[in-house]
Amino acid sequence: MHIVMTGATSGIGEEAAKILLERADVHLTIGSRSGASGLPQSERLTVLPLDMDSLENERRFADAVRERGPVDRLLLNAGLQLARPEKSADGFERTFAVNHLAHYLMLRLLTGSLAPGARVVLTGSGTHDPAENTPVTPPDHAEAEWLAYPERDPNPAKGTRKFCARAYSSSKLCNIMTAREFAARHPEFTALSYDPGYVPTTGLARDYPKWLMAIVSRVIPLLMARDRTSTVPRSGRYLADLAVDDRYARGQGDYWSVRGPDLVKAEPSDLARDAAAARKLWDDSARLVGLESA
Ligand SMILES: NC(=O)c1ccc[n+]([C@@H]2O[C@H](COP(=O)([O-])OP(=O)(O)OC[C@H]3O[C@@H](n4cnc5c(N)ncnc54)[C@H](OP(=O)(O)O)[C@@H]3O)[C@@H](O)[C@H]2O)c1
Repeated sequence: MHIVMTGATSGIGEEAAKILLERADVHLTIGSRSGASGLPQSERLTVLPLDMDSLENERRFADAVRERGPVDRLLLNAGLQLARPEKSADGFERTFAVNHLAHYLMLRLLTGSLAPGARVVLTGSGTHDPAENTPVTPPDHAEAEWLAYPERDPNPAKGTRKFCARAYSSSKLCNIMTAREFAARHPEFTALSYDPGYVPTTGLARDYPKWLMAIVSRVIPLLMARDRTSTVPRSGRYLADLAVDDRYARGQGDYWSVRGPDLVKAEPSDLARDAAAARKLWDDSARLVGLESA
């Protein structure tokens, strides 16, 4: 089984990659900007260079993956959360560029290399859903143009903290909508999205001052529903399960969420379930990365 993965070098993804490599039938190809020192050495592990800040890098990575033959599983798990607004190498808001556009482009470039019955998993987040009432400012919309160029958004989030938090939750909304829209366009494959719960010990908040995160990581679990906090071993295990367990085969855009000790099929937000908005996001994202809509 050939598994291609982003975000396998830290946190939830690294844990999932270790679990997947324990299976003798798995050949794992990861895209990484930082090597793979936390993963066990294995002849079944290939590390290809990938800095998702740049769409050109994405194209090179996809070319290299294609040379390696059909892809049975595509795990789009990389993600970042910024403390200050930044632009990507291509001039897009960086959270949206890395978390959504880069994964969207990778999915598009590798669709033709997916093996029959292949499975695609995108890591989203419960922060996408205003009804979850998380401490992260929720999305206001899923307009690709405004997310890519927030200066064009007529109603931008006010203040650095809210701006960055909303950029993050919006990018995760886009991941979930992309899984659903991919399923609608390619029912021959399995497409899932994943909410790992709040996992305070990963590297996701590395951009924030350590003293702040030490406080925040203690306070957030108190503010959230008790069953929404998870651990790296638990959420990493569930990401690996979503990739390989037969239980999750044939999902058509299903959203799986860690709740307490369990992984449950959940309903994402109203906007995440808006089929017209998902089609528009798909088409607008295509334009932004220079592809035809397909
Ligand atoms: N932790 C949580 O509470 C939580 C909750 C909901 C959803 N999530 C989602 O879970 C996923 C994994 O996050 P995590 O919490 O495990 O955080 P993490 O420990 O920071 O892992 C993030 C991964 O993404 C990679 N990455 C980030 N920017 C990249 C770039 N420009 N190019 C290539 N790779 C890049 C990182 O690579 P490097 O090792 O090179 O930095 C790392 O492998 C993310 O999609 C995140 O949004 C996390």
